Amino acid sequence: MAIQTSTERGSWNSRLGFILAAAGSAVGLGNIWGFPTKVATEGGAAYLIIYLLCTFLIGFPVMVAELSIGRASRRNPVGAFKALSNNKFFPLVGLWGVICGVMILSFYSVIAGWAFGYAFEEIFYFLGWTQMADLLTDTGNGWKNALLAVIFMLATIKIITGGVSDGIEKATKTMMPLLVGIIVIMILYVLTQDGAMDGVREYLLPDFSRITTDLIFSAMGQAFFSLSLGMGALITYGSYLSKKENIPQVAAFVTLADVGIAFLAGLLIIPAMYVARSAGIEIFVGDQLASSTDLVFQILPALFHTIGGFVGVTLGVVFFLLLSIAALTSTISLLEVPVSYVIDEHQMERSKAAWLVGLGVTFISVVIAFQTSLIGSFSYIFSDLGLPIGGLLICLFIAFVWKKEEALNELEHGFPTIKQSLFAKVWPVFLYVICPAAIAYNIISNFL
Ligand code: PHE
Repeated sequence: MAIQTSTERGSWNSRLGFILAAAGSAVGLGNIWGFPTKVATEGGAAYLIIYLLCTFLIGFPVMVAELSIGRASRRNPVGAFKALSNNKFFPLVGLWGVICGVMILSFYSVIAGWAFGYAFEEIFYFLGWTQMADLLTDTGNGWKNALLAVIFMLATIKIITGGVSDGIEKATKTMMPLLVGIIVIMILYVLTQDGAMDGVREYLLPDFSRITTDLIFSAMGQAFFSLSLGMGALITYGSYLSKKENIPQVAAFVTLADVGIAFLAGLLIIPAMYVARSAGIEIFVGDQLASSTDLVFQILPALFHTIGGFVGVTLGVVFFLLLSIAALTSTISLLEVPVSYVIDEHQMERSKAAWLVGLGVTFISVVIAFQTSLIGSFSYIFSDLGLPIGGLLICLFIAFVWKKEEALNELEHGFPTIKQSLFAKVWPVFLYVICPAAIAYNIISNFL
């Protein structure tokens, strides 16, 4: 795609191209870092079940909503609400999405930097350069964190200056199957190790008494984060989508790919934790996990090191490189939201907008790199709380402002029989009642 200007919007090269880009946005650290960490710290199989319910019952309907708003308006999240109604409030919802995108990206790039650094850690460990390896595992080292986050941000900015589809499609097409392949190989290895079955039980046998309002709140935020919902990333991606596409079908595919990869990551990491414990690695202090933010980054290298030798280092390097690419296809979508906003609403040229916004985000990333304890609060405010609130308002926008008839007219492109389908009867019920009520209830009960 050529450089995009505000008059000439880019579009995806092909149907598969869009699915790959949206799946690339969804699949990222949320699946491989966020989800397993939360399962481990917040309720095992009980968490998994609530997460799946949130994904299918709340996330999927909101994804269809975002994509249809994006395609109907062909705008960034702020412009989209302006284009579809005269309502003065909803453009602010778009602006909230832009802010969430910026803030999420600023901590996301620090964690992505860790993942990238671990690819080198594996090599240094293999070569016996322990000082270098230890430097890369030290998630508290500000200078190291900052350097890696800046590298990550520069790569993201560079790709965004080229427009939406160049590169993302190709990267995702090879990255995703390889990532799944390597995770499956690792699962098979882990399951043969001592202690693994304790982890499998923890992951798959629910103890319903662990379901609390906190758990539900966290699972809902995780579902929004992992599916890239609630901040307009998919409004933006939908704005480049062809009228030929069947939106509900595409959304179903993206949701299943995202959930599938999160599920596999859990099946790898939770058993691996118990294997590590039976090998004497201190990951629990009493009943509590010793660490949480960087849990996955302790467990996985330990696993590659126990595999050891050339096989261990190769698996480790390839895995962390793939994880970095998965994170990159997500950071691209996070940065695309504010950048497309600046291009459309402030008539700035694409590469200028990308550098301006990108460097601004990089500045916040550097602060977080030195102060990693901020990650928890940022992710609480802008992800766990911010994204579901955005999702709630998007549902209300379709239900009461744009109206379901208009939304269904949009969905008819690519799905001509939609008005006679069961989808047309059920989806509005989710937008009018189920999603807003569930989200509002969860947020309120979390505050109480
Ligand atoms: N879904 C991405 C992940 O799981 C993160 C993301 C959130 C991307 C919100 C875009 C918007 O890693």
